[in-house]
Amino acid sequence: AATGPLAGKKVVVTAGGTREPLDPVRYLTNHSSGKMGFAIATAARQAGAEVTLIAANPQITPPEGIQLVKVETAAELLAAVKAQFKNADILVMAAAVADYRPAEVAKKKIKKTADNQTMSLELVRNPDILKEISTIKQANQIVVGFAAETNDLIANAEKKIKSKNLDLIVANDVSQAGIGFNADDNQVTFLFADGRQIKTTIESKSKVASQLIDIISNKLQK
Ligand code: C5P
Repeated sequence: AATGPLAGKKVVVTAGGTREPLDPVRYLTNHSSGKMGFAIATAARQAGAEVTLIAANPQITPPEGIQLVKVETAAELLAAVKAQFKNADILVMAAAVADYRPAEVAKKKIKKTADNQTMSLELVRNPDILKEISTIKQANQIVVGFAAETNDLIANAEKKIKSKNLDLIVANDVSQAGIGFNADDNQVTFLFADGRQIKTTIESKSKVASQLIDIISNKLQK
């Protein structure tokens, strides 16, 4: 049997970025590579947890020995998270989820025409997965969100921790080169529901991940 601070615990981690199709050949997405979520899944497994990794279009190879669920769209991610959360102790939502999706997905490739010098796309809101999870969350379940921002990082993260009813949020400045999206390094602020903050130095994503897993393990012991 596994040993470590998370032995006997089920951890669900989401990673990557959703793709929202417009037609059979095109989609809307973001720059998330999956690296941060994969590092968290690996750290959780090293801590002895049973880990399920829900990966949305990862740009890197998933870690071995971890149960992998592949999804593409936010709607698919929502369904997978809901199914996995039921018997989970911990959920870490590191995936970058599209806030909007095309209102309609064309069945055939959308063609340009000589007359159309511009085109507009109607988008509709995607469900907020963490908000939906907050309505079914039990007191003994720990939910961690991410906040990727280019500005007003901490203020935005503080709003999110409340509106999404999170235990912890990992605030991540994605405006700086070398950290955040697609990079191997990161610098984050861990923000707790009680207002406490811990800012890391610039360090590898695997180091950030193991700090996060330590924080979660400590929380569980309380
Ligand atoms: O509100 P915002 O998208 O910036 O919040 C980021 C956090 O919320 C991340 O943990 C992300 O995975 C999650 N999220 C979500 N459902 C969405 C959008 C984001 O659960 N539709």
